[in-house]
Amino acid sequence: MDSNGLEGVVVADTELSDVDGERGRLVIRGHDVEELAAHHDFESLCALLWTGILPDAAARAAMRTALGRARVRAFARLPLLGDALAAADAMDALRAALAHLRAAEIAAGDLKAEITAAVAVFAAAWARQRAGAPAIAPDPGLGHAADFLRMAGAGGSDSARARALDAYLVTASDHGMNASTFTARVVASTQSDAVSAVVAAIGALKGPRHGGAPGPVLAMLDAIGTPEQAAPWIASELAAGRRIMGMGHRVYRVRDPRAAVLERAIERLLGAGVRSNRLALARAVEAVAVASLGERRPERRLAANVEFYTAVILDAVGLPQALFSATFAVARVAGWLAHIDEQLAGGRLIRPASRYVGPQPQVCEPA
Ligand code: COA
Repeated sequence: MDSNGLEGVVVADTELSDVDGERGRLVIRGHDVEELAAHHDFESLCALLWTGILPDAAARAAMRTALGRARVRAFARLPLLGDALAAADAMDALRAALAHLRAAEIAAGDLKAEITAAVAVFAAAWARQRAGAPAIAPDPGLGHAADFLRMAGAGGSDSARARALDAYLVTASDHGMNASTFTARVVASTQSDAVSAVVAAIGALKGPRHGGAPGPVLAMLDAIGTPEQAAPWIASELAAGRRIMGMGHRVYRVRDPRAAVLERAIERLLGAGVRSNRLALARAVEAVAVASLGERRPERRLAANVEFYTAVILDAVGLPQALFSATFAVARVAGWLAHIDEQLAGGRLIRPASRYVGPQPQVCEPA
């Protein structure tokens, strides 16, 4: 139990994913994340999360077509989003843009593809607007990862970078009862709609203790600059009482298994000739951070979490730092939607309790 009285409290039964914090294992609908990221793309993960079955070639092609067509429809909505995409922060923009969707006006069978596509199209359009460039229309014939790179203006959707982004989207698609998934399930448990639940989840994902971490991780790597600078930089951050971003996790007491999956995907990308000098620096910084945190808090076992290598992989595929948290949403929306379905299907209203520690009513003497 933690100081909130919440750690380990079970609020739902789920078939979607299981996080083993002691052994460092993540299982998504019966498959290890390592296997999924190595052999499957985002379309396959959507099918797995939403139907429980890893798709065969025909089912995967159907999901690719459904997401492609939904991206085209989402792009047609851009002129109807008011000033949502003018927000300086990508997550503010995404929240406001998604709020324009109305679940009641979308056919129930299309809802998950529609929302998933909208997150990618709106996030990419925000990046273009921020760069002072026109939005790039989707290519429905491409995979979701390759088209997101294209629409975000991250250059060509060459297969090595699209594969690396696919590995990231798969890895980040679901992760047990994390804060944003819990948020989505709470909203769904009131029998509200999927758009409302996803908009609320985006709000939860935004914070630096959750999906807001990878941008600051990249800023940290840039500030450190060289492996030799890692030790003094980290020592001064810790002395100032600041946290090292990309380190520590509420559930994992060992290294987050997703960190290794992303590291491998970055290695493959470098092997394919994409240039990034940040992997070597990140590894050096991680080693120093783990050692420093271990000295300060030996009982806490703080290690790298998924965000540490998220920063490196998203930078290497050519996405701007300002788009990192929104790219997390591009992936995690698949999991949110599966959890929303599961909650709507069987879940009761989630209504936790709080402990009252305020003052007791005063007995007031009549004047
Ligand atoms: N750097 C330095 N100290 C850290 C730390 C970090 N990254 N993560 C945890 N700690 C320390 C805390 O300062 C706290 O010390 P204290 O008891 O002396 O105050 C102790 O470890 C426990 O922290 P707590 O906040 O209770 O742990 P948590 O389980 O709530 O934290 C995170 C989980 C992820 C919020 C936390 O590790 C963190 O803030 N990490 C950095 C942000 C990040 O990477 N977020 C992405 C998560 S995937």
